[in-house]
Amino acid sequence: ASSTTVDLSPIEPGMQVTVPWQKKPVIIINRTPEMLASLKETMDKGILKDPLCKVPQQPPYCTNMYRSRIPEWYVGIRICNHLCCIPHYRPKKGSVAPWWLGGFHCPCHGSMYDLSCRVIQGSPAPHNMAVPEYEISTEKMSTTI
Ligand code: FES
Repeated sequence: ASSTTVDLSPIEPGMQVTVPWQKKPVIIINRTPEMLASLKETMDKGILKDPLCKVPQQPPYCTNMYRSRIPEWYVGIRICNHLCCIPHYRPKKGSVAPWWLGGFHCPCHGSMYDLSCRVIQGSPAPHNMAVPEYEISTEKMSTTI
């Protein structure tokens, strides 16, 4: 399998980019402290299907609340695991529902995910979105998927 290296330096806090990797869209988000706080808040609301990432949808080093190697940087496959649509990035609070703290919203059948791509209860998608194996370096400001 071929790997892709992405320069992280142009991705400012709060921004996301989507890059192709093995014919799949991979999202990279530089999460702000506020965005990271929203992950805990969503967890505390008890609205996630698999808050602790028990279903193996990520490498072992991403089995944490951030679902990442470095909390700020999220790297994940941007494919809804209901019927494989590409969810929209909706980082703004209240943009999908009054209680919304930011995340992804699937245009096909309405699945909702938080900013760690953990699926919210009531969504047709059964699992959190997948995270690929990757390396990341904040010194080199790059990630290799
Ligand atoms: Fe995303 Fe159905 S494909 S909700």
